[in-house]
Parts: sequence; structure tokens; C-alpha cells
Amino acid sequence: MNSAEIRQKFLDFFASKQHQVVPSAPIVVKDDPTLMFTNAGMNQFKDYFLGNKPAPYKRAVDTQKCLRVSGKHNDLEEVGYDTYHHTMFEMLGNWSFGDYFKKEALEWAWELLTEVYQLPKDRLYVSVFEGDEKDNLVKDQDAFDIWKTMISEERILFGSKKDNFWEMGDTGPCGPCSEIHIDLRPEEERAKVDGKDLVNNDHPQVVEIWNNVFMEFNRLADGSLVKLPAQHVDTGMGFERLCMAIQGKQSNYDTDAFQPLIQFVAQEAGVKYGDDEKTDIAIRVMSDHIRAIAFAIADGQLPSNNKAGYVIRRILRRAVRYGFTFLNFKKPFLYRLSEVLANQMAHVFPELKQQLSFVQRVIEEEENAFLRTLDNGLKRLDALEDKFKENNSTIDGKTAFELYDTFGFPLDLTALIAREKGLTVDEAGFDVEMEQQKNRSRNASTTEQSDWVVLQSDVTTEFIGYDCDTSDSHIVRYRQVKTKNKSEYHIVLDKTPFYAESGGQVGDQGYLISDSEQVEVLDTRKENDLILHITAKLPQNTEASFRSEIDAARRNLIRKNHSATHLLHAALRKVLGDHVQQRGSLVNERVLRFDFSHFAKVEDAQLREIERIVNERIRESIPLDEQRNVPVDEAKGMGAMALFGEKYGEFVRVITFGREHSVELCGGTHVYNTGQIGYFKIVSESSVAAGVRRIEAVTATAAEDFVQQQLNELNAVREILATQNNISGAVHKLQEDNKALQKQLEQFELKQLSSLKESLAQKAQSLNDVNFVAEKVEVSSSDYLKKLAFDLRQAVDNLVLVLASEIDGKPQIAVMLSDSIVSDKNLNASQLVRELAKEIKGGGGGQPFYATAGGKDTAGLASVSAKALELVKKSLNQ
Ligand code: ALA
Repeated sequence: MNSAEIRQKFLDFFASKQHQVVPSAPIVVKDDPTLMFTNAGMNQFKDYFLGNKPAPYKRAVDTQKCLRVSGKHNDLEEVGYDTYHHTMFEMLGNWSFGDYFKKEALEWAWELLTEVYQLPKDRLYVSVFEGDEKDNLVKDQDAFDIWKTMISEERILFGSKKDNFWEMGDTGPCGPCSEIHIDLRPEEERAKVDGKDLVNNDHPQVVEIWNNVFMEFNRLADGSLVKLPAQHVDTGMGFERLCMAIQGKQSNYDTDAFQPLIQFVAQEAGVKYGDDEKTDIAIRVMSDHIRAIAFAIADGQLPSNNKAGYVIRRILRRAVRYGFTFLNFKKPFLYRLSEVLANQMAHVFPELKQQLSFVQRVIEEEENAFLRTLDNGLKRLDALEDKFKENNSTIDGKTAFELYDTFGFPLDLTALIAREKGLTVDEAGFDVEMEQQKNRSRNASTTEQSDWVVLQSDVTTEFIGYDCDTSDSHIVRYRQVKTKNKSEYHIVLDKTPFYAESGGQVGDQGYLISDSEQVEVLDTRKENDLILHITAKLPQNTEASFRSEIDAARRNLIRKNHSATHLLHAALRKVLGDHVQQRGSLVNERVLRFDFSHFAKVEDAQLREIERIVNERIRESIPLDEQRNVPVDEAKGMGAMALFGEKYGEFVRVITFGREHSVELCGGTHVYNTGQIGYFKIVSESSVAAGVRRIEAVTATAAEDFVQQQLNELNAVREILATQNNISGAVHKLQEDNKALQKQLEQFELKQLSSLKESLAQKAQSLNDVNFVAEKVEVSSSDYLKKLAFDLRQAVDNLVLVLASEIDGKPQIAVMLSDSIVSDKNLNASQLVRELAKEIKGGGGGQPFYATAGGKDTAGLASVSAKALELVKKSLNQ
């Protein structure tokens, strides 16, 4: 069975058991601050388990793109070294939301594995929860009894909380679980060691394939467990491991889920996979990492320097490093591998192929940048080689850490290069630096979050902000969140007009007003489906009736900018082409920012045309056509533009401003008529990343203000020039005049310099056979000071010259020596200038014959000549 068939059979099996087949959620998480990436199939259903939101179906099945590279579930460092851990993997899952429980879940799991996939029963082991005293949990006798009807008792193992109690994170839904493991070792090995003893023991061929979690509890921030409103099933099967088991392979990488990637890397590197453990690891790292990188970029996460973007950058760099070090890829390569992946996945995750050129562009640019960094790191190592040799032939921990932190060199790469140079690395010192950095970031990011105080359970918030600016509200739950510098409250209401930040539109601000008080809402944010009103203080009476009121004037400005963003998007596609895809946006009360895929600078003429089209739509006063609850497929049929990496439910909201112009899936707030936008003006166009451009624009009064400001500037220039017409001509003439004057000035200065040189040459004082000149001079630039020194060197033999000067308000010293002085006398310009620099509280250096210094104390210039005479005399023993 090939991997595509294996995946399909899973979906079909549960569909036949009345499960709704749902799409994978994006791999990048946008609405849950506790998670950066989807790390389990159940993430998108978290609110159904917690009872925050009713599930639209009782049973679901899918294959979910997952990434386990940060937070509680983190496998990154193992990837490549073993045969069954991955960064990105597919998790096949089936769910019951308050519907069936342990019996059906386990029986179906068994049926699918042994009858549909025909896995041999005598290779399977199952585990059940043994209970836990600390959490006051009893052993899972139910699961044991169910298993007993299907599998012999000696194959049922009891496991501890670590393996048999699954938790999403430090807090959140959790419950006892039952895992299914498979023993893939050859017959003779199985005869020697009982598979049972290898379960959960990191054995590469005795691996867990499926986890059935019985969600019953919610773990609170204080560590306690509370019962969930209902019992649910959450299962997760590692797709790649399942393929290994069914295809009878020894490694996930040997299955057809990975082989196309493995073979491509091996072929391009000119090696054979399986020949050498070192190159094999590198091939596995690259084949694995490209999946995480490409899927994350396709879902809208560009590599960057913080948060999720940084995680992707680190994975990409890890892949480049392994390729660079062990496979000799000195030029960008990963971007080519992404094409192999896109073709392989086209039938199940078409988003990769649809965006291939963009994904490739981003990866290639990152690779190039990192290869340059690696090269700089190597140069730095070369430059410090002598220092290391003096240091017991050791690269100190600080430098090794700097290489890691700044240049992306992992310790093993530094160690490898060190060995080639006959050096060693102070690994303990490196660890100390690493630990210090971890402490620093831990201290900076500690957040304390209290558990929810629930005033009304089972209440979901009604959002009325599309139609109203105020509402009667009650608090249904709240909590306090403390970080190092601030404390805030998150308040959830039963009904609210407050729009929570999403889709680029900022959250509303406003007030919660009761009879006795008024509490300011500073911001509104989303956590999955909860709308959090952020306040600095908690109302004194949380059970009061409130009038919740948004800042309507601010919201009106935001609306205009949001609708203008849609018109801009449409105009961009019209002028630049259909390849333009939204890559991000920010809409607030001041400005709108729109990032989109496009590979070249948008020319001025194109910008003017885009602006013209948007303003034309505004003048056409097109009414808003807002449709709520449109089935997602119907909306797409209407030509609505959906964003990659965005999670859409079954029903969506469609915002249309003229069907032929702009139709978008959007949850934001909009003007009722494009005429309300008033006026649209682009203020800048720039690049944000490889293949991504950014336009910033303003609307309405902000746009008028912007134009007025530009006109004011122009009028000011007009006044200065005392001309009304042909301003650019007048400025051009000024520039030309200026150039001519500059030239005259230069000639004049050169003449002056020449006479200064003559007079200094005259002043040379003989110290035996040395001609000594030390003088404070007036010159206008360092270049002239240098020229004067070099000219004097030509004019006077056996010269020891010290010039001091104030240039642009700062003291400078130049020391120039004839070659004869450097070779025959005990004098060195560099040393001399360093001594003299003390007079001006500064420092400097240079070559033996010419050196310069700068400083802070201009008054000290007066004593430089005398000091110079003293020092030179001393050196000449006079
Ligand atoms: N949520 C469970 C897991 O990720 C199924 O293992």
C-alpha cells in the first residue's frame, strides 16, 4: 500500500463510521497565544473540549499538518539522528465530541489496524494508564477490560502519567490515554528480547503508532484537574510511522513518504543514502526540515528574527548547516528540494504547489543570507586562529557561543572546524554561556496567568459589533495575567460590540460602564474563539450589568482603512497580475499596511495607476454587500479571495464591493459605501522579505492631511526660492550653482594648503639630522589634513611631522615620518600618535610611517606640539 492509499483508507474508514472529514488546520497558529504551531490534531478543537463553543459535528476525522519544534512537545534536536522523529509530520486523527467514548474508539482502532491495514496482531502492544496518586487518578480499568476482548492480556501494559496521560500543554484539556505500539524487528531479534520490554524505550523498531486520548479533564494553572463538561475522544496516529509499519520498513525515511526527497538530496550531493551514517543524517535532516519550512511558509509564516518566524529560520539554518558541512552544498539547495515536496504532496496539500515559486524564492533568499553568514563566521574563526593557538590551542567558550549565537554555528560544526585546525573547543565554557542566555530570556518572558474565574459557564459570546457600537453585557469569565512589567485582566462578556484583533484589523478600544464605575478597555484580542477585553483593572462588581461601548470614532477610521485595503488588493491584482497574494496586513485608525507577493519594485507609474483605480472605486460610491454564513465552497465559487494559512469554518463571511471588483472572505468591519473612505493615498512602497512587497497608505482626513503636508512643504520651498513656477527648475539651478561654488572653494582650499605647506616646511626645527615640525593648523577636513601630511613628506627629508587640528568641532592628530626615520631611528608613528592622543583624551593608530588619532578634548590640542617635541627628543636620546 503506498502512502496516499494509507492516508485515504484512514479517512474513508472513519467517514464510514459517520465522521465528518475536515481539512487540516494551518500549521501556523494565529489565534492561540499559548501555541506557535499546530502540534496535535486536536488543537483546532480545543474549544469544543473545554466547552467554550459547541462542536458543529459530533465526530470528525482528518490528517493534520503538525510541527513539534517548540514548547512542551519539541523533537528538533533528535531529528535526523533517529529514524522516526520529525519536525513536520502528519497526524491522522479521529474525534468524538461528547459522543462515543473508550469502547468504540479502541475497537475501531483495532479493526482499522488489523483488518483494513492487516497489521499482524502478534506485533502489536497496547498500554493503558496505571493511575496517579498525586493527581488522585485511578487506573484505567475500563480501557483494560475493552482491550482484553481483543488482545491477549500479556500484550496490555500499564503505563505511568508520563506515557499514558496526555496533556496539550501546561494547562488545557487532558486525560488518560491508551497507546498502540508495534514491534517491527526481524523474527530472530524478537525471539531474543521480548518486545514488551522495549515499549516506550526509544527503540527505533518498537514504536508507538497511535494514541487514543480520553479527554475528561482540564489542567488549571494552579496544577489541579477539573472535570470537563463532557467526555471526548482525541486520537492521533503518526502517519509516517504507520507507513513504515504497513510497508514493512525499518525507518520512516525508507517509506514512499520520504524516499523522493531522500533520493533527490543524495543524487544532488553525489552520495548514496545508506553508505555513511554522517551523510545519511544530513540527508534525513534536509528531507525532514524542508517539509517544516515549506509548509510553514505556504501557511503564511516567513522566516524572521522573532517568535514563529525565528523557529522557522532556525530549522532552515539547521538544514543548511548539515548540507553545508556533510554534503558539501555550498550554494542554495533547499529551495530546489521544495519542488520535489510540492509535487509529492499536490493531491493532499495543494497549497504548496499553488505557491511554489513564492516558497522557493523565500527559501533561496534565506539560504543565500545564511551561507554568507556562515562564510563570515569561518572568516572570523580564521582571523582568531593565532589567538586560539596562544590560548592552549583552544577556542574559548565565549567565542564558540558567539559563533553559535551570531553566526548560527552549532557547537559540533565549530568542533569540526577546530579539529581541522588542530584546536579544541571549551565545551564547558560554551554550556555556561548558553545557560546564561537561557536565563536571560526566561527572566524576560515569564508570564503568570491565573485560572479563569467563571461566573457563567456554557455561555458563548455573542458578537454584535458588525451592527452596533454598544451593548448590554455581563461578565461570564475573567482572569489576571502578569508579566514582569505589567498586569492586565482578560474579561469575556456574554455579548459584545468589541472587535477582537484578527485578519490584520486591530482590536477595538472603549469602556465597560456600570452604574457605579467605568473601566477602560485598552484592547480586544482573540484566544481561539474567546473574545478577550483587555483592561488594566477589574470592575469592582464583576456581576453588575454593563454597557459596553466601543470608541466609535476610532472604529470608523479603522473601517475606512479596512475597506480601502480590499480595494487596494483588487487594484494590485488588476495592475500587477493575479500572482499578487496577500501576505499580511495591518489596519488601524491611522494607516493601512498591505504585504503581498510580487517579485519586483512596484514602479511609480504603477503606483499612480493603483491609486487612481482605488479612488475611482471610492467615487463610484459602491455599497457594501455583506453576506454572513455563506458555505465556504459557495463563497469560493463566487470568486472570493481566500488567504493561504487562514482557518475558515464551514460558513464564512463574504465582503463584496462590486462583484466585478472586490470579493473577499473577511471577518473585519467595513464602511457601508466606498464613498465613506473619502480619499486614498499611498505613502510608501518597500520590500519586507524576498518576494514580498509592502504598501502603506492612508485614507480620508489622514490622506488629506498627508497631501496638505506635502503641499505645505512645497509652498515653503516656493517661498524660499521666491518663485511660483518651475520649482524643480529653480532647485536644479541651485544645485548647479552649488556645485560650481564647491569647486571654487576646493581650489581655494588647495591653494591655502599649499602655502600652509610652504610655511610649515620653513619652520622645520633641526634635531641633529632630523627635521622636526609640530604645529596646530587650520584645515577643513581629515582628507586635507592627510594631504598636507603627505605633501610635506614629499617636500622635507628626514621628517618628523606632528599636525594637530580641530575638524568639525573635534580634535585630530596626524603623525607622519619619512621612511628613513622609520628605518634608522627609534620612532614609530603609530606609537607616537597613541601617546599624543592622551593630550586630547582619545586614541588612534595606523602604520609605522603614518598614523592618526581622534579625541574628545579640543583644549588639549594646544599642548600637542610641546609634548611631541618632548617625546621625539626622548626617543632620539637628546
Ligand atoms: N492528542 C494526542 C496526541 O497528540 C492524540 O498524541
